[in-house]
Amino acid sequence: MTTTSVDVLVLCEGAARTYGDGSTATVALQPTDCLIAPRDRVALIGPSGSGKSTLLHLMAGLDDPTVGTVSWPGIGQRDSLRPGPVAVIFQGPSLLAPLTVEENVALPLILGGSADRPAHSAAREALARLELAELADKLPEEISGGQAQRVAVARALAGEPSLILADEPTGQLDRANGAIVVDVLLAAAAHAGAALVVSTHDPTVAERLPDVWEIHSGRLTTTRPKEAAWSR
Ligand SMILES: Nc1ncnc2c1ncn2[C@@H]1O[C@H](COP(=O)(O)OP(=O)(O)OP(=O)(O)O)[C@@H](O)[C@H]1O
Ligand SMILES: [Mg+2]
Repeated sequence: MTTTSVDVLVLCEGAARTYGDGSTATVALQPTDCLIAPRDRVALIGPSGSGKSTLLHLMAGLDDPTVGTVSWPGIGQRDSLRPGPVAVIFQGPSLLAPLTVEENVALPLILGGSADRPAHSAAREALARLELAELADKLPEEISGGQAQRVAVARALAGEPSLILADEPTGQLDRANGAIVVDVLLAAAAHAGAALVVSTHDPTVAERLPDVWEIHSGRLTTTRPKEAAWSR
């Protein structure tokens, strides 16, 4: 079956990213063609510094390619991406220090136009799904790094996104908790009918996802090439 453009959530066409310029320039991502369609499940694997976060940030609309384009045909213009249909789970700490765990999870919903009460209700539900309900009133400084990473997952899932971009969501977790987070991501993606992209160093995480994309020195290859998948 041919994928039509409206079926494509995010489309990278010759998208490349270089940091800096002149003799100090770093080519983080070579020109890249790829797409994510609804319900895709992709593991993005590659060594440290290979360009995983760079590619995910472009797909999230958090950063611009220096060459080429990134678009979201099935979602809308870049302005409408956040908070809303594209949820990002960042590699590093991302909770706001003055807010409680529950407030952190509710905040994107409130910024997206939800009233306080339903936003907090959705936040509590998302925290419960990650078995974090007892942390709701704690501040980020009062919880562990691994717990904070799971709260960031809850925050991403509370908004019922159509595209979930998770940057090493299990990086700070032991194997058992990493497996729980992958379970939750897969279940949430299935529940919301969302596509899921997970960057990871962990082969046990990658093997849970049906598509594996490999990136080396900023060059993306896929084990199931999709370059020709969209209609021309
Ligand atoms: N803001 C920046 N300024 C300059 N160089 C950067 C910047 N961000 C990333 N880089 C460089 O771009 C390359 C790709 O980085 P990126 O963070 O995408 O890698 P990664 O695959 O996510 O690595 P990791 O597994 O360690 O998270 C690396 O060489 C990195 O040093
Ligand atoms: Mg990274």
